[in-house]
Amino acid sequence: MSKIHAAITAVNGYVPEYVLTNKELESIVDTTDEWITSRTGIKERRILKGEGLGTSDMAVHAVNGLLEKRGIGAEEIELIIFCTTTPDLPFPASANILADKIGAKNAWGYDLQAACSGFIYGVSTGAQFIESGKHKKVLVVGGDKMSSIINYQDRTTCIIFGDGCGAVLLEPNEEGFGVMDSILRSDGSGRQFLHQKAGGSARPASHETIDNNEHSVYQEGQAVFKFAVTNMADVAAEIMDRNNLTSEDVTWLVPHQANKRIIDATASRMGVGSEKVMINIQRYGNTTNGTIPLCLWEWESQLKKGDNIILAAFGGGFTWGSVYLKWAY
Ligand code: UT7
Repeated sequence: MSKIHAAITAVNGYVPEYVLTNKELESIVDTTDEWITSRTGIKERRILKGEGLGTSDMAVHAVNGLLEKRGIGAEEIELIIFCTTTPDLPFPASANILADKIGAKNAWGYDLQAACSGFIYGVSTGAQFIESGKHKKVLVVGGDKMSSIINYQDRTTCIIFGDGCGAVLLEPNEEGFGVMDSILRSDGSGRQFLHQKAGGSARPASHETIDNNEHSVYQEGQAVFKFAVTNMADVAAEIMDRNNLTSEDVTWLVPHQANKRIIDATASRMGVGSEKVMINIQRYGNTTNGTIPLCLWEWESQLKKGDNIILAAFGGGFTWGSVYLKWAY
């Protein structure tokens, strides 16, 4: 019997309607459109407005559209891996909440927290359940309502992040398409440069933590940039090497969208021209777990069966990694 690979058989995405432009940010913090564009490549990002709406509400849109595209019912989903840094609640898992909202009555699920590398971790771990024969339909969701943990008085972070969510369906493929390889890395000592100070068990919410703005993203941008630019490029080059892929063999690079300069460095390290790189950072900013599935969703119509695709990400933790997959449809 030929090896079972986990293939992406459907992809969909959702971004909220509200567009927060660089121009509007100029009226909120001391910044300029020129600074944001030249340092990050971002022009605008989406913000989820509406009382009581969380990340799972964006996922409902993305997943319902995905199920419709694939022509299957929610009850056919066996496992939901919800990659997010902004779950609706500390518990239960957003995977459970999503399953309830879409009617995935036969699914179990869990949340996966690996910050901006979450979707890569999710695809890689989800693939194991397919390859082992345990499951036939695994939903990997990547999304964040970053606006819920952003301090809109901090010009170094509020200009970067946005809200959005994407999802893919993994199914068995015996024709040699799907996830071929993955490299996942982490280094917890990097947490000092990118984290949320309070709201966890070590420092629960209190009046003091709220007064100190400790429930929002803390980032030392330059330090993170240095690690990201090296590690994301290294891990993308490494997965090419060990699968004997030349830059000509790579059809698409799907990089995490944190900063256009990090994306360019990764592409250049791989020897891949800009025409092969999916970039939508200018419209959505950094949606954390959402960036890679949102790219796949937007480029879906250009993808062809057999395309060699490299996913690459770097995020808080630190976490980083790459996935090599052959597009299956
Ligand atoms: O998603 C996963 C992980 N995250 C990342 O990969 C993000 C990595 N880091 C970055 O993308 C960049 O470091 C940032 C975009 C966050 C910042 O860009 P930078 O080129 O590293 O700027 P910087 O932090 O070195 O700041 C340069 C200057 C500073 O002023 P002084 O000290 O030189 O006078 C900042 O205060 O730019 C200032 N600055 C701003 N000026 C206008 C910082 N933010 C802004 C701003 N508008 N929004």
